[in-house]
Amino acid sequence: MIGVYDSGLGGLLELNKIRKDNPQSDILYIGDQKNAPYGNKDREEVKKIIENNFAIFRSFGIKDIILACNTVCSLVDFKRHDDLILYDIIKATIDQLDVSLDAKILIFATKTTCEMGRYQKELALKGYQNVYVKALDELAGKLERFEDEGKIKEYLYAEFKTISFKPDIMILGCTHFPIVKHLFEEYYQVPVYDSTALDFKTDDLKGNGRLYLLMDKSLNNLTFINKYVCEKVIFYE
Ligand code: DGL
Repeated sequence: MIGVYDSGLGGLLELNKIRKDNPQSDILYIGDQKNAPYGNKDREEVKKIIENNFAIFRSFGIKDIILACNTVCSLVDFKRHDDLILYDIIKATIDQLDVSLDAKILIFATKTTCEMGRYQKELALKGYQNVYVKALDELAGKLERFEDEGKIKEYLYAEFKTISFKPDIMILGCTHFPIVKHLFEEYYQVPVYDSTALDFKTDDLKGNGRLYLLMDKSLNNLTFINKYVCEKVIFYE
């Protein structure tokens, strides 16, 4: 069994591709909605929350954990968990880029992801020279609360108006944000990179494609899961 971890809904968007890449694995998905959003919480508190969720994965004997959360990838100490194989969504998102080194890259992410600076560091290491980040502090929370799209659009457009240049490409550096990818595309009309089609092949061959969800079974979640995962799932109570 492999693990997929996000603070809530965002990582669900990765599941179709992950399941295609790992047909012989079962998956335990943790969407930690009782603690979401992570992105503007106290960092030490989030680090403890991450440890607790890793303990849950360990209790299932899981070694491979796909961190489908940029905020987690910004805070976790990858070297400290040598009993686990942690898959880093920030590196994988950057590896997809197909753009010149002088392109203007605008990254939208949570406050913590922007402030921890992993995107900026990794992109600088690869030689990208024009990297800008913009924190959208409230977006993940709004999406978790299933706020009306009109209101989300209003919030986003007000944030976009504070940015004085047009990027060549955008990166959605939060796995929740592709839920409203069309709003980013509509406003900027430039290519958008996100995390919904990344390659995460593991060596785990001990299952047959079952998907277990450790998250709330509310009607909103069920509707969302039907839309994005499109298949029967099993809830852990
Ligand atoms: N989906 C998460 C990310 O990729 C974080 C959203 C949140 O909990 O703030 O950063």
